[in-house]
Amino acid sequence: MNNELHTLADYDAEARARLSTMVYDYFSGGAADEFTLSRNRESFKRLALLPRVLVDVSRRSAATSVLGTPVSMPLLIAPTAFQSLAHPEGEIATARAAQALETLMILSTFSTSEIEYVASRLEGRFWFQLYVYRDREITKSIVERAVAAGARALVLTVDAPVIGRRERDIRNRFHLPDSMMVKSPVSAQGSEISGSELEAYVAQMLDPALSWRDLEWLQSIAGIPVVLKGVLRADDAKRAIRAGVQAIVVSNHGGRQLDTAATALDALPAIVDAVADSAEIYVDGGIRRGTDVIKALALGARAVLLGRPILWGLAADGADGVQNVLRILRGELDQAMALCGCSSLKDITRDLLTEASPAANRADAQSIIIR
Ligand SMILES: Cc1cc2nc3c(=O)[nH]c(=O)nc-3n(C[C@H](O)[C@H](O)[C@H](O)COP(=O)(O)O)c2cc1C
Repeated sequence: MNNELHTLADYDAEARARLSTMVYDYFSGGAADEFTLSRNRESFKRLALLPRVLVDVSRRSAATSVLGTPVSMPLLIAPTAFQSLAHPEGEIATARAAQALETLMILSTFSTSEIEYVASRLEGRFWFQLYVYRDREITKSIVERAVAAGARALVLTVDAPVIGRRERDIRNRFHLPDSMMVKSPVSAQGSEISGSELEAYVAQMLDPALSWRDLEWLQSIAGIPVVLKGVLRADDAKRAIRAGVQAIVVSNHGGRQLDTAATALDALPAIVDAVADSAEIYVDGGIRRGTDVIKALALGARAVLLGRPILWGLAADGADGVQNVLRILRGELDQAMALCGCSSLKDITRDLLTEASPAANRADAQSIIIR
């Protein structure tokens, strides 16, 4: 284990040093001008905290549950594709880390490890993320496999009818090594991404016609709760709940799909106000500090998802690296809770937040304050 890595940013730098430019850029990049990617971080800086004082915070817990599954902290592992690009053990290593820290892993359809192997390490803290294939028989067989392996929810990603324009990947001619395959639909003929480009694969295999009508079918074949991932509008969230969806991930896919899309943090309050009574709401995109987690929870999220930081941990040190990333963020969350006067997650409420003054976000803020 590398003892010099103290922050998630340190893990980012370590991953950059270890990975090829093609892989690092695939993990880190966003769509087009990457405005949404950078705004994901900026939206956290726009909020400031108003800590409560003289509260007994000698005993603190960040434990919670998601759709009835207990987790030790409100930090869940977002689905990310092709984890074997980061480390040979790929998704298996991530699962081991999730299990060690008692949190939940969402496994991507584009997993490079067999669903069953990953699930067997997770003791039920396992949800499966679904991309819907044009061929509904392939889709059905993937869902059946995930359910049989013990997935407790199906996370349907709805912000990717087509793949975003990832210009770093275009320039780098991103491709998978010949030896690497997507393992979930492996039984279906011709459905491996093997050395071919992701964009071409997605265009060929995934269904851009997916619509609200398909939700009912999906719920009927799944028989487990369905979560929608990639919602940014309150009207879509309401419609999803009416259609029987049990939770929503407010997300812009880490800035990788529609560039200039709103940040999840900006979209969150309206969605919370519209549906929080009837569904759990999670959020992702740019969470890198314990204070980011507090802000997301204060706006009404039940938990946050981590995408890239998990891949950085994996690249740095396999399962140990992922564990350490989770430990760092859990430690930061615990400290931020203490300093905000919160001993449990229910104490994290909207009144902890105010707008940061615009000057506070500028690079020259220091000199303004001193003058
Ligand atoms: C390399 C990479 C691959 C991803 N693959 C998927 C995927 O297969 N399915 C999915 O729903 N989201 C995918 N995402 C989006 C993440 O689930 C998540 O929404 C996003 O990474 C959160 O932002 P963050 O990386 O800033 O934490 C991917 C993100 C990255 C960075």
